[in-house]
Amino acid sequence: MHLITGATGNVGRPLVELLVAAGAPVRALSRDPEKAAAALPASVEAVRDGAEGPGTFPLEALEGVRTVFVNHAAVGDRTEALLRQAAEHGVRDVVLLSTAAALDEANPVGAHHRELERLVRESGLRWTALRPGVFHSNALAWAEGVRTDGTVRAPYGAARVTPVDERDIAAVAARALLDGLDGLGEGSALAGRTPVLSGPEQLSTEDQVRILGEALGRPVRFEELDPGAWRAGLVAAGVPEWVADGLAGHYARAAAHPVEVSPVVEEVTGRPPRPFAEWAAAHAAAFGGASAGEAPARR
Ligand SMILES: NC(=O)c1ccc[n+]([C@@H]2O[C@H](COP(=O)([O-])OP(=O)(O)OC[C@H]3O[C@@H](n4cnc5c(N)ncnc54)[C@H](OP(=O)(O)O)[C@@H]3O)[C@@H](O)[C@H]2O)c1
Repeated sequence: MHLITGATGNVGRPLVELLVAAGAPVRALSRDPEKAAAALPASVEAVRDGAEGPGTFPLEALEGVRTVFVNHAAVGDRTEALLRQAAEHGVRDVVLLSTAAALDEANPVGAHHRELERLVRESGLRWTALRPGVFHSNALAWAEGVRTDGTVRAPYGAARVTPVDERDIAAVAARALLDGLDGLGEGSALAGRTPVLSGPEQLSTEDQVRILGEALGRPVRFEELDPGAWRAGLVAAGVPEWVADGLAGHYARAAAHPVEVSPVVEEVTGRPPRPFAEWAAAHAAAFGGASAGEAPARR
C-alpha cells in the first residue's frame, strides 16, 4: 500500500493516477476524503486528515503501508511525527517532495526543506528527497491578469529558471515508490539522494509569457514589477512572508546565475521532461483561451 499525502494537489493527483494505472493500491490523505474520493480514481482509499486536531496524524492511515509520499504542503510541522510513526508501522520507503531552492544557502524555503530532508535522512527509512524547480502550474497566478488585460506582471522577467511539469515530478516519484528504493541499486539517481528535477529548457518569465501567448493565439504583454511591490502583493494575497521571500530569492538568484537543466527526469522515466508549451496549450482555458484539452497522459 502506498500512502500519498497532498494527494489532491498539483503533484499528488498525477502521482495517484500513475500508481493506480500501474495497478498499485493507494491510500490518499485529505482534509475532505469525500471530495478526494470523487476527484481521484475509484480504487483509491481516501482517509480523513486532521480530524484528531492540530499536530496529530491519523495512525490508521499507516496500517499495511510500505511507502509514503511526504508533501509538506499537507503534512506541515507533523513531518517528524509522521516519519517516526511510519518507521514504527514498518513502512520501508519515503519519498519527500523537497525543492531546488534547497541548493541556495540563503533561501528561507530552501532552509526549511533542508531541515525536512534531514528528518527524512535520519528517519531510519530508505529515502529520496526530490528537489523540483518552479512548477509549470505556478503560471496560473498570471491567469487573472491575462484574462483581464492580457498582461503578466512579475519581477525578474529575464531571470532564467527551468520550470518543470508536475506530472514529471509525479512520474519520478512513482518510479521510486513502485520500484522500492532498495531495488534501484548503487547507481540510482534516487535512493539516498536529493536529485534536482527540471523541465527540458531554461526559460525566463518573458519566455513563458511569449509561449503562453502562442498557446492562446494572441500576444500577452509582460510588465516588469518592482520585486518589493510583487512581494507585498503575494503577502497581501495570503502567502506567508518566508515563502514569498523564498520565491523572490529563487528568481533573484537566477537573475545572476541561470538555473541549470537537470537530466534526472529523463534518466529515471526514460522520457524527456514535458515543455512549458505543452502545459500552456492544455491550460489555455484558464487564461481565457480555447482549451486544447489535456494532453494525452504519458507514462
Ligand atoms: N510551486 C513550486 O514552484 C514548488 C517548487 C518546488 C517545490 N515546491 C514544494 O511543493 C510543495 C507543494 O506541492 P503541491 O503544489 O503539490 O501542493 P498543493 O497542490 O499546494 O497542496 C497539496 C494538498 O495539500 C492539502 N493541504 C493540507 N493542508 C493544506 C493547507 N493548509 N493549505 C493548502 N493545502 C493543504 C490539500 O489537499 P486536501 O484539501 O485534499 O487536504 C492540497 O491538495 C511544497 O512543499 C512546496 O515547497 C513547490
